[in-house]
Amino acid sequence: MAGPFNENKSKLKFPTKINMSTNTKKLAGKNAIVTGASKGIGAAIAKALAAEGAAVVVNYSSSREGAERVVAEIAGNGGRAAAVQANVAKKAEIERLFTETRKAFGALDILVNNAGIYEFSPLERITEEHFHRHFDLNVLGLLLMTQEAIKDFNAAGGSIINISSVVSTAAIPGSSVYTASKAAVDAVTRVLARELAGRKIRVNTVNPGMIETEGLHATGMAGGDFRKQVESQIPLGRIGQPQDIAPAVVFLASPDAGWITGESYYISGGMRANP
Ligand SMILES: NC(=O)c1ccc[n+]([C@@H]2O[C@H](COP(=O)([O-])OP(=O)(O)OC[C@H]3O[C@@H](n4cnc5c(N)ncnc54)[C@H](OP(=O)(O)O)[C@@H]3O)[C@@H](O)[C@H]2O)c1
Repeated sequence: MAGPFNENKSKLKFPTKINMSTNTKKLAGKNAIVTGASKGIGAAIAKALAAEGAAVVVNYSSSREGAERVVAEIAGNGGRAAAVQANVAKKAEIERLFTETRKAFGALDILVNNAGIYEFSPLERITEEHFHRHFDLNVLGLLLMTQEAIKDFNAAGGSIINISSVVSTAAIPGSSVYTASKAAVDAVTRVLARELAGRKIRVNTVNPGMIETEGLHATGMAGGDFRKQVESQIPLGRIGQPQDIAPAVVFLASPDAGWITGESYYISGGMRANP
């Protein structure tokens, strides 16, 4: 056989000892689930966790193609990922998501509760359906995902990052239900940080400002005069991109954040939306 691996014929000299400890990726050997990762902020988070060495379950609800694109991009960069469909507002689907995650990767180290919806509605147009759609996914889904996840964290603990919003501490007219759901995310995070600390499981939120995603475009807020008006109030002068959020999530997932729990990180170009 020809080539550098034929010891007899090769003139190439390989080092006799290979240093196996050169993997400097912060999340090497870790397993993560990111809910709602077929697009937007979740997709950027999944790619960033994988770039730091984590194996990532890319959860989606209906956008299979989007999730598979994220998985293919991660694999193309030498990472590990799997797309798993589940509506994470439903307990039975969450249980199936975890069964498939166990099969694919085994134990869990990182959970990112990102899947969420945001629809604005003035008081007179709020319906029970509008309320339950937000709370079933943004709050109940997050609780049920966390309940299932902690069964799979090992004795070393882990990190849970909940994607909240700057609106959780703001008062934007027409956003009562969405704002209430994200304020609940912040509150649940503080409670669970205390409840799970003894098991070395850290729980934090990342609270993005306005981020240009498919979901934001669907609301009509990503363009035109509305965008200009928002950008004029952001100290750093622009709305965010999904890549602006992902590094904070990687940090909170990593050992660098080992003494941080129960915190909320505002990533919003300097805008604290308190009027
Ligand atoms: N964009 C912003 O300005 C902004 C600001 C602050 C906070 N946030 C928060 O950031 C998170 C992501 O927002 P985004 O703008 O990236 O949203 P997006 O573009 O609308 O993407 C939403 C993602 O969630 C998934 N999803 C929706 N319902 C689901 C369900 N029931 N089960 C599982 N997955 C579901 C979608 O999957 P399918 O495509 O398969 O349905 C998609 O992957 C949300 O929690 C949102 O509240 C966003």
